[in-house]
This record gives sequence, C-alpha cells and structure tokens, in this order.
Amino acid sequence: MTSRIIGTGSYMPAQIVTNDDLAKIVDTSDEWIASRTGIRNRRVVREESTSFMAAEASRRALESAGVKPEELDLILVGTSSADHCFPSAACEVQGELGAVHAAAFDISAACSGFLFALNTLQAFIQAGMYKTGLVVGVDCLSKLVDWKDRSTCVLFGDGAGAAVIRAEDTGIRHTVMKSDGAKWKVLSCVSRTNGNFINGRQPKQGYLYMDGQEVFKFAVKKVPECICEVLNESGTDIGDIRYFILHQANYRIVESVAKRLKQPMDKFPMNMEHYGNTSAATVPVLLDELNRSGKLKQGDRIVLSGFGAGLTWGATLLEW
Ligand code: COA
Repeated sequence: MTSRIIGTGSYMPAQIVTNDDLAKIVDTSDEWIASRTGIRNRRVVREESTSFMAAEASRRALESAGVKPEELDLILVGTSSADHCFPSAACEVQGELGAVHAAAFDISAACSGFLFALNTLQAFIQAGMYKTGLVVGVDCLSKLVDWKDRSTCVLFGDGAGAAVIRAEDTGIRHTVMKSDGAKWKVLSCVSRTNGNFINGRQPKQGYLYMDGQEVFKFAVKKVPECICEVLNESGTDIGDIRYFILHQANYRIVESVAKRLKQPMDKFPMNMEHYGNTSAATVPVLLDELNRSGKLKQGDRIVLSGFGAGLTWGATLLEW
C-alpha cells in the first residue's frame, strides 16, 4: 500500500508586485533581478493571513479530489510563517474546513516544508494509520523579509498550494529527506521566542537572513544528489521521468540541476517569473498548475524536490 495525490489546489494573493515596483523602494532593477533569478513579479498579501491562504488552497484541492473535509484523517501544513506560535496553521485550517475527524499539525522545514509534509503523510498511510490526508505548503515571507534589504526582499512572494492524498496501490514510490543542522545560520529568521524579560533581553522577531551564495552552492550540489538517490533506490531510469518539479527559488539553480542530471529543460517546468520564491508553496503551486492545465497524465513519473533553510532538502518519486 502506498498513497497517491488525488487532487490539487492553490491560492495566490491578487496583489502583484513587479521588479519595477521594488526598484522604487530599494536600489535594484528589473534587469538585475530577472537576470540573476528569473523572477519578474511576486504576489504579496494585502489582508490575507497564512491560514486563510492555506484554507483556500485546501478547499480547491478537496474540490478537485472530490473529497469532503470530514473524510480527512490527517492535515499537515508545511510552513515557516504560521500566523500564531500556537495553535498550528494546520489546526486553523482544520477549523476553517470543518475537517472534524482529522488530526492536524505543522511541519517546520522552510522551503522543503511541503515535501517533508507529503513524505510524512505518506509514512503514516504506509504504516496503515490513516487513509486520507491533506498536505499544504504555505508561506507569507513578505512578513519576514526586510523590505530595505535588496539582497533578500526581491526574491520572495506569498502563496499556498495543497494536495489531497489517499491510500492506493500506486502513487508515491520512494522518498528521500535530508537535513544539515550544522549549516542553520546560512538561512535563518529569529523568532519571537528569542530572548526573555528575566535575562533583560526583549523578545524580538527578526528579519530573514540569507547567505545567498552559500545557499546557491548547497542547492546545486544537494538537489541532483538526492534526486539520483531517490531514482537509484527505487530502480528507476532517469529517462523515464516526465517532470522534475523543483522548488522555485531561482531559474539558474533549476538550469544547473538539469545540466548535472543531463536532462532536457522541458522536463523542468518553472513559474518563479510570476510568483517569486513562495517557500513551502512553490512545489504544490507548480504541481497544481500542471495538473489543472492537463499536462500530467495518468502513469507519468514525476520527481518533486525541495530545498531550504535548516538546511533541509529532499525528493519524492511518484506515479501520477
Ligand atoms: N539589486 C541590485 N544589486 C544587488 C541586489 C539587488 N536586488 N542584491 C544584491 N546586489 C548586489 C550586491 O550588493 C553585490 O554588489 P557589490 O558587488 O557591489 O558588493 C552584487 O549585487 C553581487 O551580489 P551577490 O550576492 O554576489 O550576487 P549573486 O550573483 O550571488 O546573486 C542571489 C545573489 C541571491 C541572486 C544568488 O546568490 C542566489 O540566487 N542565491 C540563492 C538564494 C536562494 O535561492 N534562496 C532561497 C533558497 S530556499
């Protein structure tokens, strides 16, 4: 028994922020951003909360799967920007959907959040504990970036993607998850629990910090490695993969991964031009776009791969 994705959904805020808009608030240009990252626009929330975006994406995924909220056994949300320290975004989504029979909790794995949540749900289903689950990748990094820091604010956007998973005989074939906590400082964001009043330090929330070049080097090395691992361990020929759906951080990272894997670029769909890096949301949003545009055919073999703060990275091989 394994699990299969039976429905997808996504939600992107309506407000579009272009590179030219950013050039009005920091010293940057459309040319610099687009040539180094492939990003031209990103969506930024006006009023929407993280859990609102997650719930909207979830509703669309449930509708596409033909599954009622009461049928869900487990809701996992991959996010680094939940609206509250507690409860989890997953519990807020559960309440919003009326998924009265589900257990719900968040997975904190930054941009790998959706992938780690999907693989966790798969493990629960494989173990026979649950039959039907909902996995969400959502982030609202516009609330965590320093809008005066041109080296980070141009990269990120807000959004949510979701998938409904059900126990079936075909679907997810193999998963790989990795972490390297020794490198946590490369990409981080201070939380409100840092400091306390007793020792005289005010609790504070910091901005996202990133060593861009270190992240770049990490991604172009580790992503191809874990994709090869998931393929080798499952005995799958790389030529049989229809799509590699990678975390949408930077088109140069995607191109480098394709080159290292010696695979053509048409197997690597991209949408960061429109949305920027939406962290845990990039993989399920792109998956939903491909699904809704009819590009995924039953039996297609697909590799999903995420990477991000932690450091965390991983890959999932599935049959559509
Ligand atoms: N606009 C204009 N200039 C900028 C800029 C911006 N938005 N951001 C940085 N610069 C400047 C720097 O200040 C630096 O100027 P200097 O040479 O005068 O010091 C110059 O551009 C080069 O900066 P550098 O950081 O070396 O650029 P880079 O070629 O490494 O590109 C990234 C920067 C962030 C695009 C690149 O490192 C990257 O994509 N890294 C991966 C980040 C990522 O994907 N993170 C999320 C992972 S989940």
